[in-house]
Amino acid sequence: MNDHDTEKMSGLLVSSGFSSVDSVEDADVVLLNTCSIREKAVHKVFSELGRLREIKANRANRSMFIGVTGCLAQHEKEKIFKRAPCVDLVMGTAAIQQLPKLVADAVSGVGRVIDTNFYPDNHLFPSVIIQRRPTAKALVTIIEGCNHACTYCVVPTTRGAERHRPVADVLAEVRSLVEQGFCEVELLGQNVNSYQGGCTFAELLFRVTEIEGLEWIRFTTSHPMDFTQDLARAIVTIPKIAPFLHLPIQSGSDKILRRMGRKYTSQEYLERIGYLGEQRDKMCLSTDFIVGFPGETDEDFEATMSVLERVRFDASFSFIYSPRPSTSALRLPDDLPENVKHERLTRLQARQAELTFQSHRREVGNILPVRIESHGPTELGHWLARTAQWRNVHLENNENRQLPFGRLVDARITGAGPHWLRAEVV
Ligand code: 5AD
Ligand code: SF4
Repeated sequence: MNDHDTEKMSGLLVSSGFSSVDSVEDADVVLLNTCSIREKAVHKVFSELGRLREIKANRANRSMFIGVTGCLAQHEKEKIFKRAPCVDLVMGTAAIQQLPKLVADAVSGVGRVIDTNFYPDNHLFPSVIIQRRPTAKALVTIIEGCNHACTYCVVPTTRGAERHRPVADVLAEVRSLVEQGFCEVELLGQNVNSYQGGCTFAELLFRVTEIEGLEWIRFTTSHPMDFTQDLARAIVTIPKIAPFLHLPIQSGSDKILRRMGRKYTSQEYLERIGYLGEQRDKMCLSTDFIVGFPGETDEDFEATMSVLERVRFDASFSFIYSPRPSTSALRLPDDLPENVKHERLTRLQARQAELTFQSHRREVGNILPVRIESHGPTELGHWLARTAQWRNVHLENNENRQLPFGRLVDARITGAGPHWLRAEVV
């Protein structure tokens, strides 16, 4: 979602007459679009601001305006100016359409500018303005905000309550993307499953699917409690829906899930995976884990490892719990030693790496459609592509043909690594 917000902001700046430059040293305006999901992301912002402060201070005859946007800006508001006095502009997550005015004010010399209001039409961003990165897949917002209240998560504070984009808007945007040449879209929201912009998410998928010219539809991200049988049916029956599901479980321990406010048990999670039926084996299933949540005992962690074994996730993203401001988990005593948290994370990630590798090896010998994601070979000589399951493919193009960017070609999978598949064009 942050990537897509950046595309929206770039578009606004271009429509106000700015153009992009290749290096910060050449820029008049620099915006850091920030994440605050974990403390590490916040550290990165302030260390980058330190670097920008130096560049700004060394500017001899030209000024430089620095802005902080996104989740950190939304949460910290004016405090950003105090902690990083080089910052001229602060803009929150739901004030994106104010960017041209804020930049104009900052540049005109009125002093520091800030807007962290929640504009009710932020999610109704005019599609024509978006300046998309040159990727094969186009991102499409369908919902902003989150109505869940996971006790560790800062997102409901930084992104606010759910706002749904009307179905007609979503369909019009996807149609126009297909006209521009995109064959793949990813529908975005903190929790796409709770979509209510005029129909359910499952119905929306059916409607998007009818758009001619579209080949693969993806979506991110889903809360297990809103993952319905209807949605599972849509995923397994609509051929255009890419066979990839990211369904964050967070923990395998019911006690920890309760403390996290996740509203399901590990059994209920497994039942939902079961909705996919036999198709599950053809799909790539990924998840998120938080390790070392307050009160996590060895037994709780073993429950997480056991869910990992049962589901045999094809991929997962795992993190050590990071205490976040304004979250209720801050009240829980967090006395687990750091080294125990790290050991658990290392063990989980090592086992996941094995499972991912195994899942890659099962693809060897198959002939699959893959989407070309590079304009030529990398330094290592292969092209980049992705399977429908969102696996990275290193594609050997032995006849040195020009491969069509963003289009599908058939490829034979010839080898597997921990992070990629090797393939050749057939
Ligand atoms: N600490 C660690 N990980 C977190 N996530 C969200 N909040 C936190 C936190 N406070 C993880 C969750 C979520 C993913 C996007 O980030 O696993 O699914
Ligand atoms: Fe955060 Fe939970 Fe909402 Fe996901 S569902 S954004 S983890 S509060």
